Amino acid sequence: MRPATDRDTGKEEIRRMQNFAGHNLHLETPRLRLRPFDEADFNLAVPFYREPEFLNAMEGDPPDEPVTSAYLKEAGKAMAKQGFLFAIVEKASGRTIGEACLQWMNLDRGRIAGEKVMRLPIGIWDKALWGRGYGKEAVRCLMAYAFDEMGIDRFCPMDVSADNPRSQALWRSLGLTVAREVDGGKVLDFEITRADYERMK
Ligand SMILES: CC(C)(COP(=O)(O)OP(=O)(O)OC[C@H]1O[C@@H](n2cnc3c(N)ncnc32)[C@H](O)[C@@H]1OP(=O)(O)O)[C@@H](O)C(=O)NCCC(=O)NCCS
Repeated sequence: MRPATDRDTGKEEIRRMQNFAGHNLHLETPRLRLRPFDEADFNLAVPFYREPEFLNAMEGDPPDEPVTSAYLKEAGKAMAKQGFLFAIVEKASGRTIGEACLQWMNLDRGRIAGEKVMRLPIGIWDKALWGRGYGKEAVRCLMAYAFDEMGIDRFCPMDVSADNPRSQALWRSLGLTVAREVDGGKVLDFEITRADYERMK
């Protein structure tokens, strides 16, 4: 599907305003659908955020208390304001299996004057589904959308833990490289420029 445009009806605009994610972008890959994240999705996410491995991978500074739907919703609200929050749906089962946010750069160290820069927090909730290529499929689709449709200059996944080889492998497998090491090398920021993205196409 395509994003809402100026030629869309007023009704379409209202829909953009009314859903939780504040956008109406629907994207598709061979095995996945990416749809606007919905309020009800936070309840689905909670049990996975209570798994330490997933929580630590997603939250640089995990909360002491068990994660609740309200906690995730607050974080989700902030993300939705800064970009395009998606739920990842497995086509075969119809199950919602994760989240991703194409997010405008919100960290000073990632901003570059005159450039449109986006980051992409992503999580496949169920670890039984890790390593099946779903992460790469979703990222490839969102990265292409960001470069080709939104016209970004640089795509910069941030805050990747040095202890998260799976995430690092994901970004490297798509041609990204380490832009900087943070916190004495405990955290890595990745990036790919438009020029490198075009070369890889
Ligand atoms: C990180 C995450 C999104 C990756 O998605 P995924 O579906 O598990 O990964 P994929 O199967 O698409 O694999 C992507 C690449 O990483 C490689 N890879 C996968 N698991 C790996 C592992 N444990 N070690 C090394 N490489 C690995 C794959 O081989 C693939 O590279 P290739 O195409 O060159 O073979 C997913 O594992 C996840 O949600 N993890 C928990 C949350 C998280 O870490 N989010 C990122 C925070 S920065």
